[in-house]
Amino acid sequence: MFVHKNQLEHLLKPEHYTSERFFQKELDHIFLPGWHLVAGMGELSKPGSFVTAELFGTPIIVSNFDGKLSAFMNVCSHRHCLINSDRKGQLKQFKCQYHGWEYKADGSTGKIPEANCFRPFDRENAKLKRFPLATCGELVFISLAEDPPSLRDYLGDCFDEIAGRFSGPSQFNMSWDYEYGTNWKVPVENTLEAYHIPQLHPTSFLGVYPGEDYSTHTLEESHTRLEYNIREYWLVYRLLRRGVLLLGGKLTNTYIHHHIHPNFVVIFVDLHAYAFSYVPVTSGTSKVRLITYSFRGKKRNPISWITWLISKYFGKRSVLQIALEDAAIFSDQQRGLESSPHPGCIGTLEERLYFFQKFVLDQCGESPE
Ligand code: FES
Ligand SMILES: [Fe+2]
Repeated sequence: MFVHKNQLEHLLKPEHYTSERFFQKELDHIFLPGWHLVAGMGELSKPGSFVTAELFGTPIIVSNFDGKLSAFMNVCSHRHCLINSDRKGQLKQFKCQYHGWEYKADGSTGKIPEANCFRPFDRENAKLKRFPLATCGELVFISLAEDPPSLRDYLGDCFDEIAGRFSGPSQFNMSWDYEYGTNWKVPVENTLEAYHIPQLHPTSFLGVYPGEDYSTHTLEESHTRLEYNIREYWLVYRLLRRGVLLLGGKLTNTYIHHHIHPNFVVIFVDLHAYAFSYVPVTSGTSKVRLITYSFRGKKRNPISWITWLISKYFGKRSVLQIALEDAAIFSDQQRGLESSPHPGCIGTLEERLYFFQKFVLDQCGESPE
């Protein structure tokens, strides 16, 4: 059942999705103090493995050297080139792609070609800038703040649930990045309602449409959550059930979609866990980083291995298909927001958006007009 019986006010006005003024406020008040998903440990498990990211104009490189995860600004102290611009990879050590300056695991400089040319050398100020890093299960987060709250406090009550779904019997499946021609709040709001499913995803949800009779919403200041019982949708239920049994897992039949304000979303079904981080780039562009883990279970036999491969394949394929179907509408929505004369409205089945919008306004110190 939905919590509200009447439509809700669309608290954010078109200006909040388009203006530089509000975008800057969001960066300062919402994003710079927070924690941001950058990787799954499955991408960083080998010695020397690294991933890069760009967060609010700051290039980041996260590495695993000497078995220790570290996050640095991905900018060389020689003449400011990105040290490495690959999305991910494996290195013996950081080596700037321009003139070859090397850096050690702690961010201090190592071998410098023609080092004599740089005498007297200021080693302390040539160190890479380090950022706070923390993990929840196998999800790796960083913060740009100097003294952020603990990641546990930031993620709130469902920290342990997230940690459990992204570790143990679940293993890394894939990561995916995508750029949107729209403000970051447009894809976030899209993921908070199922109202658009019949129109944008007529076949890819395999008949699932969590309407009022099948949905439970939890609405809080810091997060909202949708839960429903997969048993209501027999095709998806049968596929998941078969997979869980062959892998030796326990069936819960529950679909959970949890949004931790402002921009972190996790989705759990018995076979898969998805984590989405929506990142603003400019007032009219954004990107998403998606990390998925899939249930491997404890069974180790050829059937469980084949089931695992099939499950991973479909877990990946379905989420990407749905994400691309959603993405196809976003630039048209942004274009409409730039000209809209309407205040907008939120139906009861979209009620999670209201709490998200309220959070954004509250954090930015603004009130609905
Ligand atoms: S800019 Fe990095 S070595 Fe020159
Ligand atoms: Fe969608």
